[in-house]
Amino acid sequence: MARVVLFSGAGISAESGISTFRESGGLWDRYDVNVVCNYDSMQKNEAITIEFYDKRRADLEDKEPNYAHDVIADLKEKYPDDIAVITQNVDNLFEKAGLKHEDVIHLHGFMTEVRCQNQQCNKIFDIGYKSLYDAHNGFCPRCGTGFRPNIVFFGEAVPMYEELNRQIQDCELFVVIGTSGNVVGVNTIAQYVQRSILNNYEPSPAIEDALFSKVLYKKATDAIEEIAEEIEAVLESR
Ligand code: APR
Repeated sequence: MARVVLFSGAGISAESGISTFRESGGLWDRYDVNVVCNYDSMQKNEAITIEFYDKRRADLEDKEPNYAHDVIADLKEKYPDDIAVITQNVDNLFEKAGLKHEDVIHLHGFMTEVRCQNQQCNKIFDIGYKSLYDAHNGFCPRCGTGFRPNIVFFGEAVPMYEELNRQIQDCELFVVIGTSGNVVGVNTIAQYVQRSILNNYEPSPAIEDALFSKVLYKKATDAIEEIAEEIEAVLESR
């Protein structure tokens, strides 16, 4: 279990040019979440769902990590066992900033991966920025079943939430960066841990900021140095 949990959402990637979901003009303004990110999307709307993720995957190729990703990657390298980097994001900007993929806990899946839809096979392939059908023609080479994006859709189980709960058990400092709090209950976690920092661009109706020890309403790249100082103070304290 980590002493510091760094929990992020789409806002940490906003300054790298990746769209958030619920701000005006965000992804869920432009696409119907119930069509492309629902438990039955692959059954009812396979073509448009695959196209949606193919476009987002291709869009990742030229995106670069920003200063917030870089500082977090440096902290994780300096304190590998004391910091858990947990993100709702499916982009690969923490990896591009130098974090090993296995050192980033992606709660909602990973954009460059596709997964065999056969539950008994379930094999995952990293296809980079290619379209799903350009990877083994869209079918699992092991069992022949069709691929799906390796993304958690609404209404599906989220196995990684167990890992999030495990990581916050002994958490001394819970840091939230760039999430509206609409999906993962950060209020509950903030009440449970010793100390917590909330960094968002602006207040979110889903987050009770009075529950946090410190609140920074500013861009992640402007907040990250103050956050890093506090993380170092905690980890150097014993
Ligand atoms: N710095 C810090 N915070 C920012 C920045 C920035 N530069 N830009 C935007 N934000 C904040 C916004 O204020 C907002 O509160 O990021 C948050 C983004 O909220 P959402 O768009 O709701 O994204 P997120 O909270 O990550 O969504 C959670 O919902 O659709 C699902 O699976 C999807 O993982 C996603 C989940």
